[in-house]
Amino acid sequence: MSVTASTLISEAEQVMQKTQVPTSASPLLEIKGLTKSFTIHTINRHITGCTDINITLMPGEFVGITGKSGSGKSTILRSIYRTNLPESGSIFYDSKAFGRLDLSKATQRQMVYLRTNEIGYVSQFLNILPRRSAYDIVMQSALEAYGCDAVEMCHQQTKFMLHHFAINEDLWDVHPRTFSGGEKLRLNIAAAMIKKPRLLLLDEPTASLDNASKIKVRDLIEQLKDGGTTMLGIFHDLEFMEGLCDKEFNMQEGAIV
Ligand SMILES: Nc1ncnc2c1ncn2[C@@H]1O[C@H](COP(=O)(O)OP(=O)(O)OP(=O)(O)O)[C@@H](O)[C@H]1O
Ligand SMILES: [Mg+2]
Repeated sequence: MSVTASTLISEAEQVMQKTQVPTSASPLLEIKGLTKSFTIHTINRHITGCTDINITLMPGEFVGITGKSGSGKSTILRSIYRTNLPESGSIFYDSKAFGRLDLSKATQRQMVYLRTNEIGYVSQFLNILPRRSAYDIVMQSALEAYGCDAVEMCHQQTKFMLHHFAINEDLWDVHPRTFSGGEKLRLNIAAAMIKKPRLLLLDEPTASLDNASKIKVRDLIEQLKDGGTTMLGIFHDLEFMEGLCDKEFNMQEGAIV
């Protein structure tokens, strides 16, 4: 049987319906009074990351953050994903596996589980890539989400994603170390989006992309939104996401204005 994009999406959605769609009308993510600062001990300097951030995301919402460079946008996403340990405040997340929990206090083991199974993150900088081919990176991500029982569907989804994000087939078995910045970014987005995570954090996912690639990212954001994924994204400007974004926050000097 030939496989089209729509059959791939609908097969994945069948799995999603069983595993991912939030069931309650309470917030999926509730950030309360989040503050994070950094101390650079060598020069005895205290730097503000973000101050008293309050953001609520209902299930299925797509919320955008804009703001000047250095205003603390990435600090918020890194605090949710816990690559920054929050200094004060709470980040309540309605987990499928653990129920409502404060990510600022979750155990390392819980965070590893959540990063693998529930929370996706496309980081702004793409310096950590495992020693695997581009195809394997996306395939591994699919297997983590859908399991070894769905291996054929994972292969189909991987091919669909690589085609969708216009990663040339000649590059599929290549290690992405040699990829261009835009290719690395598109690969990272493919690996994060293939899982259709419950919560997806996007740090400037369109920053270095040409217009055609931006449209492909927007298309997938739209499909994920239709499938129930809740998203918090940082964008240089939100014009490109018009019609998709439910709420917008603007940051200045560490605070929402
Ligand atoms: N690990 C760190 N150590 C020290 N200072 C940091 C650290 N991470 C971030 N900062 C500082 O915190 C502030 C906010 O950084 P952040 O990365 O959140 O900004 P941003 O709004 O995402 O900027 P950009 O748009 O340039 O990505 C900046 O002044 C930055 O220098
Ligand atoms: Mg940033």
